[in-house]
Amino acid sequence: MKISRRKFIQTTSVISTGILTSNVFPEKLTNKIKYTANKEKPLVIATWYHGLPASEKAFEILSSGGTVLDAVEKGINVVENNPNVHSVGLGGYPDAEGNVTLDSCIMDSNGNSGAVAYLNDIKNPISVARLVKEKTPHVLLVGKGAQEFALKNGFKKENLLTPEVKRIWEKWKSTNKKMHDPVKNNHDTIGLLALDKNGNISGGVSTSGWAYKIPGRVGDSAIIGASLFVDNNVGAACSTGLGERAIETVGSFLIVEKMREGYSPLEACKFAIDRLKKYDDFNSFQVSYLALNKNGEYAAFSNKKNFKYAVVTTTFNKVLESDYLLKP
Ligand code: GLY
Repeated sequence: MKISRRKFIQTTSVISTGILTSNVFPEKLTNKIKYTANKEKPLVIATWYHGLPASEKAFEILSSGGTVLDAVEKGINVVENNPNVHSVGLGGYPDAEGNVTLDSCIMDSNGNSGAVAYLNDIKNPISVARLVKEKTPHVLLVGKGAQEFALKNGFKKENLLTPEVKRIWEKWKSTNKKMHDPVKNNHDTIGLLALDKNGNISGGVSTSGWAYKIPGRVGDSAIIGASLFVDNNVGAACSTGLGERAIETVGSFLIVEKMREGYSPLEACKFAIDRLKKYDDFNSFQVSYLALNKNGEYAAFSNKKNFKYAVVTTTFNKVLESDYLLKP
């Protein structure tokens, strides 16, 4: 990395990289549970509070005989369509110039994947990513090309900068370019992993990325291996948090490979978080991972406090608090 990320963060007065808790669905939080092993199938897990309605939708699809890939896509669509989630799809925070640009990827049980990056004016990037997987020989489409591909395939152009977020962005522009108050606003990815009753796994990730980012910035959510990896013989993992660090450590791939070696999902997530310790700003950024294995065991782990994740099974439907490394 050339300019240090810390320097960029200081320059733009970002107090934290803003990987923060959504307060969209706080009533469902269960504070006491740190980690739960589970062997039920189907199983859906997803990042943050907004992961709960996404997981519920995905679970409903799995329960009614839908495919695991449909479950992932349609579950994530719920969050992309919600203008109150400011880190994903419609209503997402824009880049420094006021453009909402979206990154997303999806991976199926056969190891096939699709992704889009820097996608403008299309609110469901996960669905476009799925079509990249299904209708092209490519994995990743970017920017204008991704948008043209979406339009050709029936997606509609839509202004994703809602009046509320436009006002917030304008204020940011006019007040010394300071980052929004990280306590009141969330800034993170929906990552969702699903396991059907036959043990087939798929996953997806979708985000508007780092609020007020440099135009052109692409985060981990478009990068297979960084934000998401699925191996149907082993398990799956996804990330949330500072995408640059998940890319640099290829975190999700690393977790799945550790599970292949026999690590539990929790041990594998801890291993990937441990890798981040080499960065001198380890205490200031946040990266969190979710993982599940083929048996239906799952875990979350974060370098920092406050990472929440949703779990939905036939007997369980909750947002849990992840365990984390940096204890006071
Ligand atoms: N993890 C989302 C991003 O950094 O864009």
